[in-house]
Amino acid sequence: MLVGAQRVLVTGGAGMLGSQVLLSAPDGTTAVGTDLVEGAGVPAVGVDLAEREQVAVLFEEQGPFTGVIHTAAYTAVDGAEEEEELALRVNGLACGVLAGACAEAGVPLVAVGTDFVFDGTSRRPYRVDDPPNPLSAYGRTKLAGERAALEAHPTGTRIVRTQWLYGPRGRHFPGTMRALAAEREELSVVDDQVGSPTSTLELAPALWDVLASGAPGIYHAACEGSCTWYDLAVAAVEAGLPEGADRARIVPCTTAEFPRPAHRPPYSVLDCSGLTRLRGRSLSPWREALMTYLGDSGEEA
Ligand SMILES: NC(=O)c1ccc[n+]([C@@H]2O[C@H](COP(=O)([O-])OP(=O)(O)OC[C@H]3O[C@@H](n4cnc5c(N)ncnc54)[C@H](OP(=O)(O)O)[C@@H]3O)[C@@H](O)[C@H]2O)c1
Repeated sequence: MLVGAQRVLVTGGAGMLGSQVLLSAPDGTTAVGTDLVEGAGVPAVGVDLAEREQVAVLFEEQGPFTGVIHTAAYTAVDGAEEEEELALRVNGLACGVLAGACAEAGVPLVAVGTDFVFDGTSRRPYRVDDPPNPLSAYGRTKLAGERAALEAHPTGTRIVRTQWLYGPRGRHFPGTMRALAAEREELSVVDDQVGSPTSTLELAPALWDVLASGAPGIYHAACEGSCTWYDLAVAAVEAGLPEGADRARIVPCTTAEFPRPAHRPPYSVLDCSGLTRLRGRSLSPWREALMTYLGDSGEEA
C-alpha cells in the first residue's frame, strides 16, 4: 500500500483513460496531470514526453513524485500505419524516457499497454508471458515502449495491458455505435474479432492499485468475459431502448468485408489472473460495466 503523502504524475491527463485516472486518485493522493497540450482541465504544464529535457523539467518543477501512471500515447491505430515513426516516438521513446526519469527518482511507473502486441492466433486467453507478435505498427510501437520501460527501470516498471476501452471522456466504439444507430437504417459491424470491452471506470482504480501494491512486471487488465464488436454494438445500441422502439438493424460482417489499414488480432482476450490475485477481485463483467457506464453517462439511446 502507498503510505505517507503521495504525489503521482498522470500522463495523458486530457485523454480518455488519463482523465479518469486523475478523477479516481485515492484519498490523500495528489494526482498531477500532464498532457501534450496545456489546458483541457489538466493542471500541469503541457509536456512532450519524448523530450528528455522537458521531462526532467517536469519532474523538477512539479515533483517530487512518489509514482507515475503513464497513459499518454499515440492511439490512432490506423494512422500509425502511415506515421509509424511518430507513433514510435510517442509510444516507444517517450515511454523509455519516462521510465528513465522514474528510475532516477527511484519511484514506480505504471505504463499502460495493449492487447495489440499479440497476433490473435491463441485459442485461450493471453497470459502475460505469452510471446508477443504484433500485427500492426501501433502494436509494434507499444511493444517497443514496454521493452524500453522494462529496460530503463526493471525494478520499478509495471506494464498494464488492456483493451477495447471506452469511458466518459473521449471517442470510443460504444459511443460511435449509438450515434450511428440514431442516423442510419442499417449498421454493419465486424463479428469475427473477439475481445473484452473495458470501461475506464473499471480500469482507472485498478491502475492505482497496481501502483500501490503491484510487483514490477506485466499485468493484464480487462473486464470479465468476451464478445465480438458486433455483440458490443448490439449491447450498446439496445441499452435503454423501450420495448419495440425503432432501432438500426445491426448486421454482422467479417473483417474481410470491412478492411482497415491496420491488421487487428482476431482474438485478444487477456488472462487477467495476476491482477485478480493482486486485488482480490476481477474487473466487472463487460456487459455490467457497459450498463453502469451508459447509466452514469446519461447518454440518450
Ligand atoms: N483506447 C483503447 O481502446 C485502448 C486499448 C488498449 C490500450 N490502450 C492504451 O491506453 C492508454 C490510454 O488510451 P486512450 O484511449 O485514453 O488515449 P487518448 O484518449 O488518445 O489519450 C492519450 C493522450 O496522450 C497524449 N499524447 C500524445 N502524444 C504525447 C506526447 N508526445 N507527450 C505527451 N502526451 C502525448 C494525447 O494528446 P493529443 O490528443 O494532443 O495527441 C492524448 O491526450 C494508451 O496507452 C493506449 O495505448 C487504449
